Amino acid sequence: MTRRRAELVVAALLVLAALCAAGFVAVYALDAIPDQTQYLGLALGAAFLCVAGALLVAGRHLVVTEDGESEYGHPSPETAERLVDIGDETVAGIRRRRLLTGAAAVATTAIGAALLAPVVSLGPVFDLAAMARTPWRRGRRLVDEEGNPVPASAIQPDEFLTAFPEGADPEEIGSPIILVRLDPASLRLPASRRSWAPGGIVGYSKVCTHAGCAIALYRAPLFQPAEQPPGLVCPCHYSTFDPATGGTVVFGPAGRALPQLPLRIDRQGNLRAGGTFSGPVGPSWWGVRRGRATS
Ligand code: FES
Repeated sequence: MTRRRAELVVAALLVLAALCAAGFVAVYALDAIPDQTQYLGLALGAAFLCVAGALLVAGRHLVVTEDGESEYGHPSPETAERLVDIGDETVAGIRRRRLLTGAAAVATTAIGAALLAPVVSLGPVFDLAAMARTPWRRGRRLVDEEGNPVPASAIQPDEFLTAFPEGADPEEIGSPIILVRLDPASLRLPASRRSWAPGGIVGYSKVCTHAGCAIALYRAPLFQPAEQPPGLVCPCHYSTFDPATGGTVVFGPAGRALPQLPLRIDRQGNLRAGGTFSGPVGPSWWGVRRGRATS
């Protein structure tokens, strides 16, 4: 391969690497496309393959190589001088070629952008309010899946029920809650939440604080002595939350407690919200512990 042709091949491979890296960023941004993960891997893998190919061609055809030999194991002054010249020649030869440096800069920038793109998934930076908003507010009635009010008497010990805010979109991440009834004497809620559990009924967000799965299991020991106290369990990675202590994490990868919803019982005996959650709902993001849920 001639030197000129090698330069063109290296530049083309670097530009191709940049295109693949840009493709990674595009696929990452359009997260609605099917098989996104596979395309992400393909794009980044192809980018690195192109870079590897470019380095191979450059190393083989563009970098000047020459063997210097010396009888005594140390290079003679002439050989040393020649080696320095070769090095200078190599660097200068590559730098001289604007095409190559330009292509390398484009590839570096695009691959850097691809590597940094996932950082945005650590969470929103500017509009945190949207993440904290929930449809719950003081006085809002709890309804079941059919939209019927939930009487406090419907919550029996050792069972759990999913409820939603009346009139709100049940699909909203802040909508579903789980209700369980505990022995009031077993509650050890934070002091500020003493009035949040009328008759021992506690309500928590149904969305796991680990990765956002639904809390779908309730561990309620039926026989004494019980080895484990009641626990709300997420079946995805088995994060377990203690409903008696404010939804604190007792097992699993979740990093923070389930947000608790204050409850009260109205004159008709139905459950209503006493306000919004104790904290932001859903999987965690950067700074979530400083956030507050809003109505
Ligand atoms: S999403 Fe619940 S434990 Fe991982």
